[in-house]
Amino acid sequence: MKIDYIRPVFDKTTPRFYIETYGCQMNVNDSEVVASIMQKAGYSITKELNDSDIILINTCSIRENAEQRVWGRLDVFRQEKKKRPEVRVALIGCMAERLKDKLLENQVVDIVVGPDAYRDLPKLLAETESGQKGINVLLSREETYSDISPVRLDKNGVTAFVSIMRGCNNVCAFCVVPFTRGTERSRSPQTIVGEVEELRDKGYKEVTLLGQNVDSYLWKPENLNFAQLLEQVALAVPQMRVRFSTSHPKDMSDEVLVTMARHANICNYIHLPVQSGSTEVLKRMNRKYTREEYLERIKKIREIIPDCGISTDIIAGFCGETIEDHKATLSLMATAAYDFAYMFNYSERPNTKAARHFADDVPEHEKTERLNEIIALQNRLSLESHRNELGKTVEVLAEAYSKRSDKDLCGRTAQNKMVIFPRKNYRIGDTVLVKIVSCTSATLKGEALD
Ligand code: 5AD
Ligand code: SF4
Repeated sequence: MKIDYIRPVFDKTTPRFYIETYGCQMNVNDSEVVASIMQKAGYSITKELNDSDIILINTCSIRENAEQRVWGRLDVFRQEKKKRPEVRVALIGCMAERLKDKLLENQVVDIVVGPDAYRDLPKLLAETESGQKGINVLLSREETYSDISPVRLDKNGVTAFVSIMRGCNNVCAFCVVPFTRGTERSRSPQTIVGEVEELRDKGYKEVTLLGQNVDSYLWKPENLNFAQLLEQVALAVPQMRVRFSTSHPKDMSDEVLVTMARHANICNYIHLPVQSGSTEVLKRMNRKYTREEYLERIKKIREIIPDCGISTDIIAGFCGETIEDHKATLSLMATAAYDFAYMFNYSERPNTKAARHFADDVPEHEKTERLNEIIALQNRLSLESHRNELGKTVEVLAEAYSKRSDKDLCGRTAQNKMVIFPRKNYRIGDTVLVKIVSCTSATLKGEALD
């Protein structure tokens, strides 16, 4: 598809945009798509807010505090606009979709663009020239931005995301995503493999295939499922590491596990959100699996891929959650022996099934107490998982300097465990054999073998 944009007229010859991203990996990847659209339309990127003509803020609605942070940022942009009234602010992403023209009432915001309308950004920006505000929050059944080559914003040059699908057809009772990102649609395997090969040619060493629910990927013209796509990608770039996220327990097939086991370059790591360990709560959440079914999936992973890293998402204090339900979550965590978890207090989101049908009846302090117990348990499990690595030699893809010292490199094992080690003569992008000598619940430390 050819893209012809109307280029807005600015005083400067190359108008500059600045972009901030909140939320999930999908949003990070969307910002890269947006950056590509903006560059094609004649804008150049800047890392400095005060050097920009356009401020883009890519937003998240998943929890209330994610939205609060964005409102806080809008106050900062207000100050910037006071100093430089010609600056334009575009609020894009999930909050744009959720709050729509309500956002335009905010004086700071000039345009509001939802996740399926990014191609319209340059046109809407051009219209702001005449003082108009602009909005496009139409969701699409087709848009996958397939033809757009994302501009990699996180410039480690080693790891990158490639989105394989958009939207979500599940209706988890707590989740706002189906409203903000629309229905599920898969991207063609040809464009996915093409983008991954492009990354390889640029020297990237690892790719993460992204989707809200990768297991329901289906390219209808060829009846190609996720396991088959994964295999195609693994075969196309045998020297690259391949990861994916996120898996859904009700859809994750043995075929995917067997494919992972068959290809050395597919990382042995699965992010499998459980949300709760109580079948009753799972039912109210509309997750479509029971505690037992979930644990069966974990068992199968361990059977087919014995050294698989497993992480999860957990929500504390969902509607109607009793102490017994909470204890069931703790016991499931211990059985699953997660290596890592993202853990949250339940946050009611407007219009979701839970908001419409159930009372948000676990008091905040109780939610926090439960969450703290979940976090404390996960810290113990993570420490245990790391202790199991002591004395082993693991393969680490160096992706950055350590935050504490540029004499150290850091990177991940295939199982997604973070390792820090003295740099010696190694460089970012190298795959290094590291002997693990110590650990905390957050990281492993080791010595590179020569
Ligand atoms: N409250 C708290 N956590 C939520 N998540 C999604 N919606 C909510 C909500 N309303 C969590 C889930 C999901 C992760 C991305 O965010 O655990 O897997
Ligand atoms: Fe990502 Fe969901 Fe947040 Fe949207 S609401 S940015 S899809 S985490």
